[in-house]
Amino acid sequence: MADQVLATKALCKDFGQSSVLADVEFSIGKGETVCILGPSGSGKTTLLRCLNLLVEPTSGQLYFRGTLFGEWPLGRGNRNRINLTKYRTHVAMVFQQFELFPHLTACENVSLGPRRVLHLSKEAAKERALSLLDRVGLNAFAEARPRTLSGGQQQRVAIARALAMKPDVILFDEPTSALDWEMVGEVLDIMADLAVQGMTMVVVTHELEFARNCADRVVVMEKGRIIEEGPTAKMFESPNLPRTREILGLADGGSRVRRVPKSSQ
Ligand SMILES: Nc1ncnc2c1ncn2[C@@H]1O[C@H](COP(=O)(O)OP(=O)(O)OP(=O)(O)O)[C@@H](O)[C@H]1O
Ligand SMILES: [Mg+2]
Repeated sequence: MADQVLATKALCKDFGQSSVLADVEFSIGKGETVCILGPSGSGKTTLLRCLNLLVEPTSGQLYFRGTLFGEWPLGRGNRNRINLTKYRTHVAMVFQQFELFPHLTACENVSLGPRRVLHLSKEAAKERALSLLDRVGLNAFAEARPRTLSGGQQQRVAIARALAMKPDVILFDEPTSALDWEMVGEVLDIMADLAVQGMTMVVVTHELEFARNCADRVVVMEKGRIIEEGPTAKMFESPNLPRTREILGLADGGSRVRRVPKSSQ
C-alpha cells in the first residue's frame, strides 16, 4: 500500500493459555476509514490496544508509516527503542468510556496533551483546544467539567482531545456503545465528518449503518482472526462467507438492522 499508516504481520496475542489474536494481518492507508466488526470476544479491542501498544503483542510485527516499528517477542535491544509517549501522539485512541480527566474542564482535557507532550505554549494549546471544541459543536462547554456533560458531549470532548495531537490515525473502540440511543447520532455525525475530511480512522463498532455509509473497508473478526475483509460495498453486497453475512446482519436479507445482532455477539 502506497501510504500505509499502520500494519501488522503475523500478530498474535496470548493471555496466559488463551490465544486472543492469531496471525492478524491488518493494514490501513492514509485517509482510509476501516471498520472492524465482529462478535463479542473476537479480539477487536485487543487488536486496537495492540495497535497503539496499550497491550504488548506476544509475537509478530507492527509497521508504522511503512517502517517496521516493533517486533515481538521483544529482545533487550529493541525494548528501549520504542518511545510510547511519542508513538501515541501519532496513534490516538478514543475509548468506549471516554476516559476524560474528571477534575479538568473540557478545554483543559483537550489542551493537556498539546501542552505536556507537544510542548505548545499555554495560549497556543488553549487556542487549539477551543477551535477543536468548536469543531465538535461544544464551544459553549469549554469550561464545563465532564460530570456536568452528557455522555455524547463527553465523547465529543474525547474526540477533540484525540484530534488535538494531530495524529496520523485515530483508533475508536466502540465509541457509541456506552451512550443512550439519543446521543449515538451526534457522535457518529462527528465521526462521519472526520471520515469525509480524510482523517485516517480505525473504528471498532456494532453500528452497521455507520460502517456501511462511512467505511472504505470492512474487516470482520471472529475468534481472534480476521475471517474476511474487503471494500465496504462488496462486503455488504456479496461477502464470501455465510458467517460474514450473519455478522453484517444480512443473513435474513435485512438491511435495516442497525447493530450486530445479539445472537452473534
Ligand atoms: N487482559 C486480559 N486478560 C485475559 N483475557 C483477556 C484480557 N483482555 C481480553 N481478554 C480476552 O480476550 C478475548 C477478546 O477480548 P476483546 O476485548 O479483545 O474482545 P472484543 O472483540 O473487543 O469484544 P467486545 O465486543 O465484547 O468488546 C476475550 O475472550 C477476553 O476475555
Ligand atoms: Mg471490545
